[in-house]
Parts: sequence; C-alpha cells; structure tokens
Amino acid sequence: MGGAKMDQSQNLPCSFVIFGATGDLAAHKLLPALFDLEHAGRLADNLFIIAFSRREWTTDDWLEYVRSILKNKLDQPSCQALLERFLARFRYLRGDLKEVDSYHALAADIAPGSACSRTVFYLAIRPADFVTVIKNLKVAGLNEPRGMNRVVIEKPFGEDLESAQVLNRVLHQYFDEEQIYRIDHFLGKETVQNLLVFRFANTIIEPLWNRNFIDHVQITVAESIGIEKRAGYYDRAGALRDMLQNHLMQLLTVVAMEPPPALEADALRDEKVKVLRSIRPIAKRAVHAHAVRAQYTHGNIDGQSVVGYQQEENVESDSITETFAAAKFYIDNWRWRGVPFYLRTGKRMPRRHSMIAIRFKHPPQQLFRETPLESIDPNWVLLSIQPEESMHMEIHVKQPGLDMNTRVIQMNASFLRTDEQTLGAYETLLLDVIEGDRSLFIRFDEAEWAWRVIDPILKFWTVEREYIATYPAGSWGPAEANRLFDSDDQVWRNEL
Ligand code: BG6
Repeated sequence: MGGAKMDQSQNLPCSFVIFGATGDLAAHKLLPALFDLEHAGRLADNLFIIAFSRREWTTDDWLEYVRSILKNKLDQPSCQALLERFLARFRYLRGDLKEVDSYHALAADIAPGSACSRTVFYLAIRPADFVTVIKNLKVAGLNEPRGMNRVVIEKPFGEDLESAQVLNRVLHQYFDEEQIYRIDHFLGKETVQNLLVFRFANTIIEPLWNRNFIDHVQITVAESIGIEKRAGYYDRAGALRDMLQNHLMQLLTVVAMEPPPALEADALRDEKVKVLRSIRPIAKRAVHAHAVRAQYTHGNIDGQSVVGYQQEENVESDSITETFAAAKFYIDNWRWRGVPFYLRTGKRMPRRHSMIAIRFKHPPQQLFRETPLESIDPNWVLLSIQPEESMHMEIHVKQPGLDMNTRVIQMNASFLRTDEQTLGAYETLLLDVIEGDRSLFIRFDEAEWAWRVIDPILKFWTVEREYIATYPAGSWGPAEANRLFDSDDQVWRNEL
C-alpha cells in the first residue's frame, strides 16, 4: 500500500530467502512478481535473493530455471539487461527443510561480507512444513534480530482451527507480531481494495448496502486451471481450505464490513473480524443445507479435453478431495440479518472469472402488474475482480414503442482507463513486505475466526467420506450447488 517510504532505506531488507524456491508458487507468482519489481526499479541495489530448495542444483542450474520461467516476459531487447541485473541477485542454496544444518548454512550465506542482516523469509511451502521451518529458523538464530527479520506465511494459515492456533503460538514464541506477514494475495488485488472505495466513497451506494434493499450476495471465484503440479499440497487441502477459508472469506468481509473509523490497518481488521464473529455458526446437522462439495471429472475446456481430478498426476484414484466448494452464510447483525451470502469456488470451471454479484430486492409495489412486464428481474450490481476489473449495474428502462415493455441495460464501467495497468497482487504485497507495510496482511484473529466459521463444514466433510458429487470439467459446478438457495428465484450468476 506504500505506507512505508522508500527513503527508509536503512530499514529495507538485504536478503530475501524463498523456501520452496523450485515450487509452483515461486514459479507462477513470486519470481514473475519480483522481476516486475525489478522492472519498475523498486528493488534496492543491495537486495540478494536466496533460493532454498532440496533439488541437487547449482546456482547456474537455478539461473537457467529462472530464465525459462521468465521467458514470456522478455519480449523486448532491453529486457535482457534487466534480466541480467535480476539474475545477479540470486544464489541457490541446496537444503532440506527438516535439517538444522541447512539453516546454519543459510545463516552463513545471508548477506556475506556485509553488516546488513535484515532478511525476509518467504515460506512458499506446504502448510504442513510451516512449524518445522519456524522452529529451525530459531535454532539457527535466524529469528534475530527481532524487528529486522520478517517471515511471510502463505495461506492457508494452518489446516484447521486447532493447527492454526498451534502455528500462531509457535510463531509468537520466536517472532514478534511486527515480524509476521500472513499473506492472502486477494487482498493485494486492485479491485478488492477498490471495493472499499466503491462502498465508502460513494454516497449513492452505501445507503442501499443492507438488508432493506439487498436480496442476497454471491461471491464466485472460478478457475479454469486444474491442480497443475500441486497434488501433494492440494489433495490434502481441497477447495475449502485452499480458497474458501481465506480468499472468499476475505471478499465476504470487505463486502459486509461497517465503515472503519479510519483507513488504518487495524481499524479495517477490527471491522472485518466483527463480520466474521457475526456469522451464524453452522450446526452439524445443518452442514448439508449450508455447504456443497464436488470434484471434477474429465471434460472439455476451450475445446481441449482434460482429465478428471482422480486421473491427475500424483492423485489417488479414489481421492474424495473437493475441487469445488460452495457455502451459504448468514451474518446476524443489523445490516445483514436475513441476507444469504452464497460463496462458491472451483477448479476446471469454464473460465477464470471472479465476481461479487449483489442482487437487489423486487420493488415493493407491482406497478406494472397489468402490463406485459408482470414480473421483472430485480436489479444487480456486479463487481468483476478478474480477469476484467469492472463494475456493472443492471437497471430497467422502457423499450421505445407503444407497448409498455422494458429491457435491462447494463451501465458498465471498467476500473481502468485504457492507458492504465494495475500492479499484480504479488507485486504489491512483496513490495509491502520489503518496505515493512503490514496493512494488507492478515491479523491472526481474522484467520482464526475464518477457521471457526469453516470448522463445522471441515469436520463434517472429514467424517463423511462416502460420497462426493461430481461435475464435468468445463461446467459451472454440480447441480447440488443449487440446493443452497433460499428461494426459487435465486440462481447462480455466471455471466457479467
Ligand atoms: C491460490 C490457490 O491461493 O490462489 C490456488 O492456492 C489458486 O489454488 C490461486 O489457483 C488463484 O489466484 P489468482 O490470483 O491466480 O486468481
């Protein structure tokens, strides 16, 4: 968010360690984002990046690998010089997360020959390994000096409520809260931040944003990709832990929160936590009515045939891990009581598409009852998060002519002007980590309350292992997801 100033350069870290450097997250998100920051001239000259991984590689092998990852970004001749500058920052360290010796080697490798010992440790690894790494960092003395070294923890923060609490306790044994960056990259997305502006900077929006006018809210995060090479992590996590507990719950809190007293990190987080605390707990017997899980089978996406989840590399052929999760929540407070929030997310859906859809209530008076319009669709506000960043409002207008007919028109506004480009979520957040700005990171009680909300579903699904619904890859999910709706005129909104 740019809260910290670049001129505080004496506080900027000089080593950036990526645990899990050869993994998917580093390849898809971290390395491209760091390179973009290089491009934007935002990386200090003395920043070194240490790639830590188990592969038997040399630094040269690693640099070859980085080149291959970034090849799509090197379309202009000027990029070559940039790439060389970027590559010169790296050293590769072969290490095992479980072996203390690897951490001593890391300590020796950090900023050699320099008095600077400020370091970022980025845990781009499976959540199951977080505690091991944190403890080993302490053994090698890498949690010190406090206030200087930062640790970045990817979501999901823990695997359930209990493990999240344990993880937090371990973290706090060795790191101060100011050193901990719990990342949920959806908070770095421009549209998500824009939601705050949309709601709280526009007088015409906020008065309508409540149970008196809104029928229900839908939050969809659809992806066309499958699990790529992440079976080891994903098969244990599933869509509920991977997406719904964090990204979708964060979106829900930003849609539903009260205006904070100030635009300060803690004031915002306080309001978000109040929303999570107001969500009606789901009783065990009600899980079936409140949540749906499903797994994709083979199908077609963009004309390409793709395999089902159980046929993916390294997935057991009888796995019942969900790749689609949908849930309904009620927020029992003055603003939202009685308004259902429907959340859904899935892999191998027809396309990448994330949207917050707000459906308004029918007008109280049926003025057009005697006309061909006897029932007209209610208004929608659609906030598209990706790939398009835009806002659409659907309203009725009269069709020209003698009869009283209406049509729906959309008022569309892209959040971007044609000459603008947004910074990616990871660029924003990595820069924040480097500059020491924690505003867009998760406070523990947010993660903890999100787990409390999800926990009954998680527990129920862990025990009920008999059946999982399916949906063909390339579809919008299983028919079962429709059973969440409270009334017959509610349907999933798939299109803008
Ligand atoms: C990650 C999930 O947090 O978010 C992935 O682990 C998912 O499974 C990804 O694909 C989606 O993020 P984005 O920014 O690419 O939409």
